Amino acid sequence: MSLLKLLNERRSVPSRQLGEPGPTPVELDALLEAAVRVPDHGKLVPFRFILIRGEARLHLGNLLARTTLARNPDTAPALVEKDRDRFSFAPLIVAVVFSPDDQQSKVPAQEQLLTAGCVAYNLLLAAQGLGYSAQWLTGWAAYDAEILTALGLKNNERLAAFVHIGSAKEAAPERLRPDHRSLISEWQG
Ligand SMILES: Cc1cc2nc3c(=O)[nH]c(=O)nc-3n(C[C@H](O)[C@H](O)[C@H](O)COP(=O)(O)O)c2cc1C
Repeated sequence: MSLLKLLNERRSVPSRQLGEPGPTPVELDALLEAAVRVPDHGKLVPFRFILIRGEARLHLGNLLARTTLARNPDTAPALVEKDRDRFSFAPLIVAVVFSPDDQQSKVPAQEQLLTAGCVAYNLLLAAQGLGYSAQWLTGWAAYDAEILTALGLKNNERLAAFVHIGSAKEAAPERLRPDHRSLISEWQG
């Protein structure tokens, strides 16, 4: 498939529509190899991966559910179960961690964050290129200090993406895309 065709056909499949099979170990290695091939000002590599698969997905869901209930014991059971299920659908979740290099001032944090975003996007594209489907999710857990500590993030790190990867159980409908022509202006000097 040509790259332009892949880009024009890219779409997310909601995580709850993802299931087995997920990438094989060899495919996962290929996905991550492609994912790290991003523009990176200063070659700082301001990102890393955490793999969440197998039983660990359910442990993470249980942690979310427990956290939600501990903070608000009156939370509606449906919401607690939603948290419990969040990581249970796709066979593989790759957490893309934004891990900035704080020691040097040459490359602004914004640029380093953009690099981490490119990594997550590369993963989406590579997964689709291999015939899988994927969705980039964050949700409250991605911004919660307790959850991030449990995942092993350091104080200066942030969660850029949970990329859920698996096989689509049903085709995802296309959504309305922005009309790129309406987004253009031309600077006249
Ligand atoms: C940084 C980031 C975080 C996102 N977090 C969520 C999320 O928590 N929940 C959600 O439903 N979609 C989230 N999305 C959107 C989906 O990944 C996806 O883009 C959306 O379902 C539209 O599908 P498309 O990728 O085919 O355009 C997020 C996207 C980005 C870039």
